[in-house]
Amino acid sequence: MAYKKHDMGFLKGRRLRRLRQRDWSRELVRENTLTAADLIYPIFVTEGENIREPIGSMPGVFRLSVDLAVKEAKAARAEGIPLLALFPNTQSERRSEDGAEALNPDNLTCRALRAIKDTVPEIGLCTDVALDPYTSHGHDGVMEGETILNDETVEILVNQALNQVRAGCDVIAPSDMMDGRVGAIRRGLDAKGFENTIIMAYSAKYASAFYGPFRDAIGSEGRLRGDKRTYQMDHANINEALREAAQDIEEGADILMVKPGMPYLDVVRALSEAFNTPLTAYQVSGEYAMICLGAEAGMWEREAAMVESLTGFKRAGCDAMLTYFALEAARLLNR
Ligand code: PBG
Repeated sequence: MAYKKHDMGFLKGRRLRRLRQRDWSRELVRENTLTAADLIYPIFVTEGENIREPIGSMPGVFRLSVDLAVKEAKAARAEGIPLLALFPNTQSERRSEDGAEALNPDNLTCRALRAIKDTVPEIGLCTDVALDPYTSHGHDGVMEGETILNDETVEILVNQALNQVRAGCDVIAPSDMMDGRVGAIRRGLDAKGFENTIIMAYSAKYASAFYGPFRDAIGSEGRLRGDKRTYQMDHANINEALREAAQDIEEGADILMVKPGMPYLDVVRALSEAFNTPLTAYQVSGEYAMICLGAEAGMWEREAAMVESLTGFKRAGCDAMLTYFALEAARLLNR
């Protein structure tokens, strides 16, 4: 049977496709835009010089020695990326039960902070506060038996934050999920005259399967004793995310973060509606790997999937996103 032009009277003249007919009309009514200024670029640093070590589980991501991290920072700023997040791959012999290397003023993180600050002062620098890159057991805090100690860990984290700020860190990002750490870090920074250091709190950080490739990247994979479910959030909960965020704001967080990203866009939306606080999400290593591997398998186009996923964060209510695609996306968006 031949299709005939139907009587579309029920539409009363409304045709939502009308605005989708041309590039210009789609552009005219587009509700969200993605720009390089929305992107926070996580970089893995490692010892040595002129080292660019591929990370097997994250195609296109490398562990960089400090000299190359400086170049990467320069390239990122040239594309309009405002903030870098630095993650150290700490050598085994520098890891310990109590993560003391976190307090060493010459640790890898501090050397990278100083080197980038010296050469590319116009880019913002962010570092995690959590002990996992420095502990032999891979946990974010210190342990007694199988227990992750809260208050003892918080005390160390305050000193870790101070150590990083003294080396040039602009944005402290507590990713450990200990109770009370935001307030303790705020007070600790203020007491030493760092009242302008920004705190970006990993507020709703879930115990997630999607961190797998990251733990490989920082050398924690295979090392982790047990799991992180006694401090990171249960993936079934959202009301709890609102409580975590409210508490972090109360304690002095300047920016909130949801992590992981794509499986938690409802949490992003809820936080953006509940609080008038800058909000970020972390498109984590497993999300990045999924998009890359799907593209490599010919299931979708890499750039299209990258832009669609990042725009989704903006639509959900994010002001900015941490993503391993940051430099690639910025280059594409600036073209
Ligand atoms: C450390 C930390 C993790 C990530 C960022 N900071 C891993 C974890 O909590 O085990 C994950 C980032 C990613 O997967 O890309 N506390």
